[in-house]
Amino acid sequence: METRTLGTTGPAVSALGLGLMGMSDMYGGADEAESIATIHAALDAGMTLLDTGDFYGMGHNEMLLRDALRGRNRENVVISVKFGSLRDPEGGWSGVYDVRPAAIKNFLAYTLRRLGTDYVDIYRPSRLSPDVPIEDVIGTLSELVTAGHIRHIGLSEVGADTLRRAHRVHPISDLQIEYSLISRSIEAEILPTARELGVGVTAYGVLSRGLISGHWSAERTTGPTDFRTHLPRFTGENLDRNLALVDQLRAIADARDVTVAQIAIAWVLNRGTDIVPLVGARRRDRLTEALGAAAVTLTEADLAAIEAAVPAGAAAGTRYAAAQLALLDSERP
Ligand SMILES: NC(=O)c1ccc[n+]([C@@H]2O[C@H](COP(=O)([O-])OP(=O)(O)OC[C@H]3O[C@@H](n4cnc5c(N)ncnc54)[C@H](OP(=O)(O)O)[C@@H]3O)[C@@H](O)[C@H]2O)c1
Repeated sequence: METRTLGTTGPAVSALGLGLMGMSDMYGGADEAESIATIHAALDAGMTLLDTGDFYGMGHNEMLLRDALRGRNRENVVISVKFGSLRDPEGGWSGVYDVRPAAIKNFLAYTLRRLGTDYVDIYRPSRLSPDVPIEDVIGTLSELVTAGHIRHIGLSEVGADTLRRAHRVHPISDLQIEYSLISRSIEAEILPTARELGVGVTAYGVLSRGLISGHWSAERTTGPTDFRTHLPRFTGENLDRNLALVDQLRAIADARDVTVAQIAIAWVLNRGTDIVPLVGARRRDRLTEALGAAAVTLTEADLAAIEAAVPAGAAAGTRYAAAQLALLDSERP
């Protein structure tokens, strides 16, 4: 698989990364054996970037990754870990983010033990906290780089100003942020700033959590543990309008003999070699489909057709519900 380098200081990684979140959390249940088989298939296909968070399944996701990497060469993978989101015993999200220096060191100590490794390749706060200036967060992470416990510092869902402030303290390898055909707000300011600073982008939600994968339908039901139940784009009239956009994409995909998901992933890959899409496959069949996107070359005519089918801002509904949007530094006016 093609290799891309994350920013000017980050590691070289496969052009597509695998996001492990759905294997432990957020999208209802997942089969553990199938999850591990999916990670193995990804590694065998040349994927090297694996993204997790200590809070995905309250440590389950990291232990799953440790099991999947048993017998594999640790040096051949780039492990990205998010920290800071606090959970409760029922599995709920408190909406509180702890990025105090002592908490960061504590989180990392547990992560290293759960992963069974002595370093994390890219370590990043999942969200910011109003209580701790970004300079202090990055200063702490910088100490951890010097001590060899982490190799690179990343960020998640921050805006352009925060990115600049952070980058002044220590080079940032990549910003992890939502970016897809129907979530394009980073194009105005955040992406140009990342490019100016030499910060890479690891794009999540490239299939809008399955909504624009071509596999979603109005009939599909989601249980209470599926986060998508609460997302504005997946509900009511918004869903119908968004699925109508997918139908437009399907016509383009059919004409090219590829799938809707492949068109959506290929579009993000096409937006720049500084962008690495994270695909959230949790089954081998979905992974195989996603990997097929790496071989799709979009012509100028294809890009124009895609743009006409799904113009920027065409999505109905916001990308998160209001309470979660309020936690995003990237969405601050
Ligand atoms: N920094 C952040 O704030 C943040 C937030 C969210 C995610 N992330 C990271 O980004 C990763 C990817 O995010 P995401 O799960 O939202 O991404 P996504 O790739 O947009 O959505 C993944 C979902 O799409 C469905 N899907 C259908 N066809 C697929 C295909 N061919 N390949 C892959 N998935 C397909 C699957 O759901 P079904 O199995 O139900 O069909 C899958 O769970 C996560 O695993 C996580 O590591 C980061």
